[in-house]
Amino acid sequence: MNLVFTDSLEGVTAEDLEGFFEGWPNPPTPEVHLSVLHGSTHVWLARDADDGQVIGFVTALSDGVIASFLPLLEVLPEHRGAGIGAELVRRMLDTLGDLYAVDVICDPDIVPFYAQFGLVPVVGMARRRYDMQGGVH
Ligand SMILES: CC(C)(COP(=O)(O)OP(=O)(O)OC[C@H]1O[C@@H](n2cnc3c(N)ncnc32)[C@H](O)[C@@H]1OP(=O)(O)O)[C@@H](O)C(=O)NCCC(=O)NCCS
Repeated sequence: MNLVFTDSLEGVTAEDLEGFFEGWPNPPTPEVHLSVLHGSTHVWLARDADDGQVIGFVTALSDGVIASFLPLLEVLPEHRGAGIGAELVRRMLDTLGDLYAVDVICDPDIVPFYAQFGLVPVVGMARRRYDMQGGVH
C-alpha cells in the first residue's frame, strides 16, 4: 500500500471513512465522523494514496495557547502494529507544539502506547452520555 500522512481534509469523503469505531455499541456514521474531523482544531490522517481510503486518524482540540486534548485516535484493525498509530501521534504532538497540556483519556491497556511519547498517567474526571455516542445530529 502507498501510505501517505496528511493534515488536510481536502477530498476526504464519508466513503473514505468506512470501518472505524471498532467495538463501539453506538458508533458515529462515516458522515458524522467526517463532521468530527472538520470540527477538530487539528487532524492527521494516514491515507491509502491509491484509493484515498483513510487507514488511521487522530484528532486534537486546542486553545492554541495552553491546553489541548486528543479525543480520538484509531487505526483500522487490519493495519495495526505497523507503526501508523505512533506516527500519527508523533505528527500531532509536533503540530500542537510547546503547550502546557496535552491530555488524553484512554483505557489502561493503552497507557504504555502513550507513555512512549512522554505522556504520564494523571487523575481526571469525565461525563459520558453513551446514548449520544453516535453524535448530536
Ligand atoms: C492504539 C492504536 C491507535 C495503536 O495504533 P497502531 O498503529 O497499531 O500502533 P503502532 O503500530 O504505531 O504501535 C507503536 C508502538 O506502540 C505499541 N502499542 C500499540 N498498541 C499498543 C497497546 N494497545 N498497548 C501497548 N503498546 C501498544 C506497539 O507495540 C509499538 O511498539 P514498538 O514500536 O515497540 O513495536 C490502535 O491499536 C487502535 O486503533 N486501537 C483501537 C482504538 C484505540 O484504542 N485508540 C486509542 C484511544 S485513546
